[in-house]
Amino acid sequence: PASDPDLVERARAAKAELGDRVFILGHHYQRDEVIEFADVTGDSFKLARDAAARPEAEYIVFCGVHFMAESADILTGPAQQVILPDLAAGCSMADMATAEQVAECWDVLTEAGVVDVTVPVSYMNSSADIKAFTGQHGGTICTSSNAKRALEWAFEQGQKVLFLPDQHLGRNTAVREMGLSLDDCVLYNPHKPNGGLTVQQLRDAKMILWRGHCSVHGRFTVDSVEEVRARIPGVTVLVHPECRHEVVAAADQVGSTEFIIKALEAAEPGSKWAIGTELNLVRRLAKAHPDKEIAFLDRSVCFCSTMNRIDLPHLVWALESLVEGRVPNVITVDPQTEKYAKAALDRMLALP
Ligand code: 13P
Ligand code: SF4
Repeated sequence: PASDPDLVERARAAKAELGDRVFILGHHYQRDEVIEFADVTGDSFKLARDAAARPEAEYIVFCGVHFMAESADILTGPAQQVILPDLAAGCSMADMATAEQVAECWDVLTEAGVVDVTVPVSYMNSSADIKAFTGQHGGTICTSSNAKRALEWAFEQGQKVLFLPDQHLGRNTAVREMGLSLDDCVLYNPHKPNGGLTVQQLRDAKMILWRGHCSVHGRFTVDSVEEVRARIPGVTVLVHPECRHEVVAAADQVGSTEFIIKALEAAEPGSKWAIGTELNLVRRLAKAHPDKEIAFLDRSVCFCSTMNRIDLPHLVWALESLVEGRVPNVITVDPQTEKYAKAALDRMLALP
């Protein structure tokens, strides 16, 4: 539905009044009504890189989820404040790995005698605490656009990787891009003693995958792929690497949100696509490319509910609060956590 014109006008007026004092970042999964006001849009890697692009802006309004706003706070100077328009915009995947659980896992790896050869690699979609753990133990952060480079780097440093918290991105990258086998990967379940693994399994594994997943991408199935192939003959199925391994194996192409956007820009007019990623982005791409047939991979999968919490009313509220001199919903990471999390993020940003 079209946005309320009154709210659109208020957002425009508040943004104009704030001028260079505000910098609005928007993740590709955000609603159209919010993306319209973003100064920069991107996937989580691009947004991490761009967060520090406007040091003169006092306020960074982050239209995305909590872990992204934390990363922006870590990567920007102390004079800049990061604002998340709705504090309930979390990420269920990031919540699947807590600092206590990860510390316990490290103890399990220590007991098994493998900790010295294990390098942690954490997906951007994790809390600042997990990023700090990663930095403290010599690891790196990765995103869906640089996971292969991050794993290559990690395997130069050690013999094993502890991959947090998305098992699917870890498994898909290891098997599809690093030449490892499914048997080289084990799944660490934080709810079971020893992660549900034997000491021998931990010693033999090359990839120790944390048992986390995305509640949106995890819902695409091989049935969705088969159904869309039957419904749209000649379709190219393109999915995000947060999808399950068997879905990725059944698809034609795999890539991050930036990859998906570029693939569709380069696609031939008249070509047919089924896309397995968040619905706001797929709808926007279908609208942007009317000369191509762009379908959503599985019509029973819906929006990322937490990404969708940032809507135009919340954005207007955040911007108008700033105009009135109140700074709402500031996301701050404590200095000790920030120091180690920044080390892990800087390592990622320095990957070749
Ligand atoms: P990217 O932005 O890295 O493609 O990740 C997708 C995602 O799930 C963000 O929450
Ligand atoms: Fe988290 Fe998945 Fe939503 Fe991204 S799409 S914010 S990983 S739940």
